[in-house]
Amino acid sequence: MAARRVTCVAVIAFCVLLANAAVTKKDTIDLECMFLGYPDLEYDGFDRTEVLTEKNFNKTVFAEDAKSIVFFNDVEDDDSELDQYECFLQLSAQVMTKRGYNFYTVNTTKEIKLRNQEEVDKGEDTIHVYKDGYKIEYNGVRDPETFVSWLMDIPDDPVTIINDQFDLDEFEDLDDEAVRIIGYFEPGSAALKEFEEAAEEFMGEIEFFAVVTSQWARKLGLKRIGEVQLFHPFEDDPLYAPNSVDTEEEFEDWVEEHREPVMQKLSLTNYFNVWKDTDEDEHLVLAFCDEETREGRAMFKLLRKLADENSEHAGTLEIVLIDPDEFPLMVDVWEEMFGIDIEEGPQLGLADISEKEGIWFDMSQLNLDDPRKHSDSNLEALQTWIDQIIKGDISLDDDDDDDDDDEPEPVPVKAAPAKGKKQKKEL
Ligand SMILES: *[C@@H]1O[C@H](CO)[C@@H](O)[C@H](O)[C@H]1NC(C)=O
Ligand SMILES: *[C@@H]1O[C@H](CO)[C@@H](O)[C@H](O)[C@H]1NC(C)=O
Repeated sequence: MAARRVTCVAVIAFCVLLANAAVTKKDTIDLECMFLGYPDLEYDGFDRTEVLTEKNFNKTVFAEDAKSIVFFNDVEDDDSELDQYECFLQLSAQVMTKRGYNFYTVNTTKEIKLRNQEEVDKGEDTIHVYKDGYKIEYNGVRDPETFVSWLMDIPDDPVTIINDQFDLDEFEDLDDEAVRIIGYFEPGSAALKEFEEAAEEFMGEIEFFAVVTSQWARKLGLKRIGEVQLFHPFEDDPLYAPNSVDTEEEFEDWVEEHREPVMQKLSLTNYFNVWKDTDEDEHLVLAFCDEETREGRAMFKLLRKLADENSEHAGTLEIVLIDPDEFPLMVDVWEEMFGIDIEEGPQLGLADISEKEGIWFDMSQLNLDDPRKHSDSNLEALQTWIDQIIKGDISLDDDDDDDDDDEPEPVPVKAAPAKGKKQKKEL
């Protein structure tokens, strides 16, 4: 038995060697890439990406045990942007091909059927990871360190079963970070299976948990088998799925309908999912707020209350919390984009991402020096402003004639002319 096992291992090792030889027998490319900041780390110059077309996509990406990273791009080959993408991919690939991942690109200018099949928008550059039958979109910033770190953290299972203190801590640590869903199921039940199938659809965007014992259900406040709760960041109370929701499709529809939080934090890994235009009837409020300053901390507490008190406006109101400390390189860009001073103190504005404009809240209405004393009046001022936004009294819709006013100007509540959705390329 032992001898046989040794032989098997030897054969496998041989195969792996062959496979490696096949993969690494590649040309070096004429591309100057650098890992910035690490003197001991160098790009070895090998080309580790391959182009996929409609013909070979399915059999490559959906092959058993394949772990694929596919970069869908709509870029001319003489675009300097392409070099940057290429470096990002090659540097990531240098680290991750050793860990079983293969890297591919798809030219979506050419591969329109494939673009539609994989639900990539025209003009959009995006990265999908295909692994164990799951498809996960990467929405983070395109730098190898953030991407590789995210890849290494992809969980093996779409649902984490909470069975000990470690799992519980993981659940609780995500409190303000992510939309979380938790369900209470019989182990091995059909309903748990359906729940898991639904979770696959949302991997990388929503975190799914389950408990399968009455002990852990009690600890997490789940009362009956089949109960499912959804938690938004910054809101105190969960939403409960109706009893009737127990198939994959019903779970998916329910999650899709309720996933939008009122407030979420911009992070390196959710960047392109958050920094984008909202739906037509949704108002985007940017909140620049450095929690390490006295004023920022006070503002953060107000925003948390505001989010909780406006939870019924989920899907209509979207507050994006941005800690400038986490995006130090972007501070100047944002200040110039919106004509505001982020370093001076918190800033709050109704914004349009692709138009690069905003209407900014007059911060002098708040007293953040003695926030405890002024908590009520501060909240009231903010709520009044939010109400005006929701009613449409403060609005960015008529973007033809409001170029020069920073002050919110009452705008007649009228259906704005339907604005054609601009196809903007994300850089
Ligand atoms: C690839 O798979 C998809 C289903 O995932 C299917 O719709 C499509 O026709 C397949 N394409 C080819 C070329 O086989
Ligand atoms: C993608 O395809 C289009 C159309 O054939 C072409 O013009 C473009 O240069 C290609 N992009 C790359 C990166 O090869």
